Amino acid sequence: MNYWLRRKSLDALLAVVLSLTGCTEWTYRHMNDPSRDVWQKPQGVVEKLSIARGSRVADLGAGGGYFTWHLAKAVGSRGTVYAVDIEERAIDMIFKEMVSSGTPNVRPVRAEPHDPRLPEPVDLVFSCGTYRHIHDRVAYFRSLAASLRPGGRVAILDVHPHGIVSGLFGHRVKKEEVRREMEDAGYLLLEDYDLIDRQHFQIFAKSN
Ligand SMILES: C[S@@+](CC[C@H](N)C(=O)[O-])C[C@H]1O[C@@H](n2cnc3c(N)ncnc32)[C@H](O)[C@@H]1O
Repeated sequence: MNYWLRRKSLDALLAVVLSLTGCTEWTYRHMNDPSRDVWQKPQGVVEKLSIARGSRVADLGAGGGYFTWHLAKAVGSRGTVYAVDIEERAIDMIFKEMVSSGTPNVRPVRAEPHDPRLPEPVDLVFSCGTYRHIHDRVAYFRSLAASLRPGGRVAILDVHPHGIVSGLFGHRVKKEEVRREMEDAGYLLLEDYDLIDRQHFQIFAKSN
């Protein structure tokens, strides 16, 4: 089986596991596999985010922390990354990694599905692969605006809808839909990056 087919089969298996069980430790470990860097381009993503050192960032739906550690490096020792997730096992994984790697600028936050429970306003809410899981997104992001500092931004990456796996198991969202919902929630599109083949990547700011 060639690489492309193996990759597609693994993605299909992951989509089935996720749709049946939610995120298990296995799915989080798969998401954190370093081979993901090839298509996910985490350094390129973080570069586009233009994060100032000392910033406060929320990694909304942090999962196993794939992006959390890149964000922690970008904010530096005086900044803070809140690794937010509704799954206890995600929070546990991040907490363990935080202790073992000695990364005190990361703080795991156990969220509720309708409330990120951020302890303070942040400069950037970053979210990769989470947008599609959030219910009543317009209301969610409208109320999230209160957790943004002046000039605060929201970066949303999510998978382009396509193919049978997406149709059967996904509830994926087109980038135009993200933009429309975010505008309804009171945001303006700042940037629309074409950096990652599989995902759209847009950055928003409050419109007033
Ligand atoms: C596909 S995973 C992406 C994880 C990580 N961002 C990454 O790129 O590897 C989506 C994550 O969003 C979390 N999630 C789903 N709904 C959420 C919500 N309302 N608030 C916070 N996290 C949520 C899930 O528990 C899961 O860990």
